[in-house]
Amino acid sequence: MSSSQKVPWDDRYKLGIENIDAQHEKLFELVNRLFELEDSNSNKEELRTILYEFSDYMQTHFRDEEEYMSMIEFPELEEHKKLHQEIVESLAQIISTPAKLNIIKSKMRIVSKRALIDHIMHEDTKLNIFLAEQEDEDIFDISDI
Ligand SMILES: [Fe+2]
Repeated sequence: MSSSQKVPWDDRYKLGIENIDAQHEKLFELVNRLFELEDSNSNKEELRTILYEFSDYMQTHFRDEEEYMSMIEFPELEEHKKLHQEIVESLAQIISTPAKLNIIKSKMRIVSKRALIDHIMHEDTKLNIFLAEQEDEDIFDISDI
């Protein structure tokens, strides 16, 4: 499997929230181990380990992220939880469906791009916008004077 088929981490995905960024980066690391796996039957056990580890860590991360969102009273928490749930379900489906390694890899590439890149860039970044808005509250609004 060539490394071009990996889902590489990019610093552009950083939200500036240390714990969450570290967890996101680790998720990329975990899923990329799958794309390094050779297509051989002797790798079955390793495949299982990688998939479970990725899925477990994804759930840990979602729990932590939701806890953080609740702590800062992020208004879109409920919608965000639903998106997390959808990702967890897609992963569970891949894990429970027997398939050839290259099929698992391509399904995982799609899910991890959606769960990692798209989700971080389009959904988790709403956290940043919300935090920035909170900081802006002491800015004078003179538009109605
Ligand atoms: Fe999220």
